[in-house]
Amino acid sequence: MSPAEANKQIQALTNELRQHNYNYYVLAMPTIADFDFDRKLRELNELEKEFPEFADPDSPTQKVGGYITKEFVTVRHRWPMLSLGNTYNAQELLDFDQRIRKAIGDSFEYVCELKFDGLSMSLTYENGKLLRAVTRGDGVQGDEVTTNVRTIHSIPKKLTAGNYPDLFEIRGEVFMHLKAFERLNKERVDNGEVPYANPRNFASGTMKLQDSAEVAKRPLDCFLYGLYTEKTLFKTHWESLEAVKSWGFNVNEQSRLCSDINGVLEFIEHWDKERFNLSYDIDGIVIKVNNYSQQQELGFTAKSPRWAISYKFKAERVETELLQVTYQVGRTGAVTPVANLKPVLLAGTTVKRATLHNADEITERLKLHEHDTVFVEKGGEIIPKIISVNLDKRKPDAKPIAYITNCPACDTPLLRTEGEAAWYCPNDEGCPPQIMGKMQHFIGRKAMNIDGLGDETIETLYKQQFITHISDLYDLHEHAAELKQLGRFGEKSINNMLDGIEKSKQMPFEKVLFGLGIRYVGETVAKKLVAHFKTIENLMDATAEELTAAEEIGGRIAQSITEYFADESHRQEIAKLKDRGLQFVAEEKEVNLASEKLSGQSFIISGVFEKYSRDELKELIEQNGGKILSSISAKLNYLVAGDNMGPAKLEKAQKLNIPIISDEELLKMID
Ligand code: IVH
Repeated sequence: MSPAEANKQIQALTNELRQHNYNYYVLAMPTIADFDFDRKLRELNELEKEFPEFADPDSPTQKVGGYITKEFVTVRHRWPMLSLGNTYNAQELLDFDQRIRKAIGDSFEYVCELKFDGLSMSLTYENGKLLRAVTRGDGVQGDEVTTNVRTIHSIPKKLTAGNYPDLFEIRGEVFMHLKAFERLNKERVDNGEVPYANPRNFASGTMKLQDSAEVAKRPLDCFLYGLYTEKTLFKTHWESLEAVKSWGFNVNEQSRLCSDINGVLEFIEHWDKERFNLSYDIDGIVIKVNNYSQQQELGFTAKSPRWAISYKFKAERVETELLQVTYQVGRTGAVTPVANLKPVLLAGTTVKRATLHNADEITERLKLHEHDTVFVEKGGEIIPKIISVNLDKRKPDAKPIAYITNCPACDTPLLRTEGEAAWYCPNDEGCPPQIMGKMQHFIGRKAMNIDGLGDETIETLYKQQFITHISDLYDLHEHAAELKQLGRFGEKSINNMLDGIEKSKQMPFEKVLFGLGIRYVGETVAKKLVAHFKTIENLMDATAEELTAAEEIGGRIAQSITEYFADESHRQEIAKLKDRGLQFVAEEKEVNLASEKLSGQSFIISGVFEKYSRDELKELIEQNGGKILSSISAKLNYLVAGDNMGPAKLEKAQKLNIPIISDEELLKMID
């Protein structure tokens, strides 16, 4: 390769890897398999070695990939959180073993551990109490996420047993079990939210939430694998694992002590197959030199210890034939392409379909042709993915697969919003899967939970032209006789259905709002909107700015809400639902005032608090007679400020001389 070509390639790889790091660490939505990322990183490393004059000192090869986010308090790690070198085959492991022998001789042991596929976390304990939890961040400093970590049951908040030191740090991996991942991801799809690709992304996306109450709803777990203390307490890593287990920490039971590299290879061989029987994802094995003084002797490189390495499993990959690409239309009109495959066994299950994500995947990345032979992989992800096409097997006359231009259900030309990957059908009033999907969402368990009515009944009622809008459900009783004549439903089931529909009129406003199926308005967002705006009129008339002033409502949600209510047909539908007796006003909670101590005083709560959520503080204020205002004005009595409050708010409050108090001061006011 010529120097000019090498320079160009180094720059291209550097940029590409930086983007992948960003996708992985910040967006928690990677677009490349770990294996391919590592391959590119190695390629860059090789090129930088050969052409050091073009190497960027800030190259992704020189840094632990990672980011800290602005929403959390940044904390510097007492000991940097490094990453591990990777190996992919026995030879590379034997090379590692050789390097160790050369440095410290033949007398040492290895500890083999599973490599959990989650996000690493550093926990600090003081006098037996969990003081702080910090993410890896960029390895030097990370995000303080203590409140979120406190929701993880397997992490002790207070130690009850053992001879632990006054101050120590313990590190481990936070992850989500596969069962919980599948359940919660399905809920996301049902809510019209983007599903996470794998449990690791779900876990790391969860840790980034500002609302710990939401975090608590997403069950996470944590295995601990590293103790850090000022004075060395134990001779070996194994002893320290035994000790932390006895202090109450969740240490994985599968770890093994191996006397040489052959034992390590056996351990790897065993877990390469057995990993599919675990209730959580692992992506490899971590191999560590057991003795701490030998670890010290071996030392570190810039990014990783020389005394440990990881062995990465190959994602299982098989070849099969693409039979056909089909398209699904969701209730929001988004069109999802699906690859239908010749059934093939992969990682213990038969695979018949694979996700194709969007049009670019078909026409740009894979350049799929009819009846292509494709490589399918299931690595971490539950839904298999097409990795690439086996071009050797493509027939010379095979035609490229073109993405559809019209809706597969109603033939309306598809549209794509600038900057978005998905095509969608704009015919929301006339496209059958959208209409049925919206009604099915409305009656669903998490929305109106209507007894006696299921997805199939909705389909029949729609096809028989009894219902085209959710409001038509509330006129169904007028058609009881016609329904009976259909012969599809018995008298009893018709009565049950009509009863269920009648009862649903009592469902609270937040369920109705969620049931309307406004894009990005999931259950939690619906609750927040109802708590903030109280009535549908307030919500319908809110500007984007007023919407974003509500807790947890960002620009994307605000835009979707204003667009929804700008549509006259939506307003008419709401008027009709209101007329039929559905709830569009927040339920008045019976407030039993705890005290009158804050009566006549007004507050705004802003920022993040360690011990309480903003909602909890709000409730506390209201229970003691205080009022919550929505924007800072001269009328405001106090601004309760947590961490990371917006600078504009702070400035405004200071200008108006409004006292700024902490959550503790607020608590003192009410004793
Ligand atoms: S030890 C110096 N042990 O893998 C690094 N890491 O690629 C010490 N991981 O950031 C890490 N399981 O997030 C260690 N049993 C295990 C692990 C493990 C998963 C993760 C961890 C680390 C990454 C390194």
